[in-house]
Amino acid sequence: MSSSVNETEQSSTGYSRSMGEQEIEEAIQWFVNAAQRCSSAGFDGIEIHGAHGYLISQFLGTKTNRREDGWGGSKKARFRFLIEILRRIKKTVPPNFIIAVRISPIYPSCGITIEDSLDLSRYLIDEGIDILHLSCWDITKKAHDGPDALPITAEFSRKIGGEIPILTTGGIWDEDDVSEAFFQGADMLGVGRAGIAHPDWPSRVHTDDNTRPPFTRKQLSEADLSPVFIDYMCRWDGFVED
Ligand SMILES: Cc1cc2nc3c(=O)[nH]c(=O)nc-3n(C[C@H](O)[C@H](O)[C@H](O)COP(=O)(O)O)c2cc1C
Repeated sequence: MSSSVNETEQSSTGYSRSMGEQEIEEAIQWFVNAAQRCSSAGFDGIEIHGAHGYLISQFLGTKTNRREDGWGGSKKARFRFLIEILRRIKKTVPPNFIIAVRISPIYPSCGITIEDSLDLSRYLIDEGIDILHLSCWDITKKAHDGPDALPITAEFSRKIGGEIPILTTGGIWDEDDVSEAFFQGADMLGVGRAGIAHPDWPSRVHTDDNTRPPFTRKQLSEADLSPVFIDYMCRWDGFVED
């Protein structure tokens, strides 16, 4: 997203290049169109994906966003792409349509820090989002080094808890993990891998029968995963037994 190199030169060599103003407008519109389609199709809400290094995160982070126009430079300008998407979606969908935003609170390769993310969450609350979704990958991971450091979710809960529902994810497998997430101040939680291995996870989380990876192909097959999906899950370190 750097705006320092000539656009035509970069695109002809296949390197990443800065988006033009028109392209940014188009990208915003695509997000709005997608939300509009979900609303028309009868969904109750959507989640804007501002995490994991995808386009929105690239605007948010200082390493990936080296623009010096209205879309980068200051913190507010880096947040602007996401805020514009949000504002325009809200103008398009019914008032009771739920809007969640998923962020990576810390994402070093994009230059996203916890401090920036906490500030961003304040903007998002002011813009009227309904749920803030923190993608932590490991809910026990601390926001900082040092003995007083809090886990990421706890840090958000301390700053914005009670103002907006906080949804957290990352490494939740059993009842202890669920308790930990709620203890940190999460209002909701999500699971990825536990739900893949145990499709009935919500109804069995209170039992001791929540085995963790690695899983055999047979176990995954019994959980109704297709052979193609099992092959795909082999790419996730330690998920499928060798
Ligand atoms: C097979 C698989 C596919 C995923 N795809 C996405 C995705 O498309 N978008 C996303 O935001 N997260 C995706 N994730 C990440 C999960 O949303 C979740 O944040 C992550 O797996 C950590 O939670 P867990 O420890 O409960 O799995 C995916 C995870 C898995 C295992």
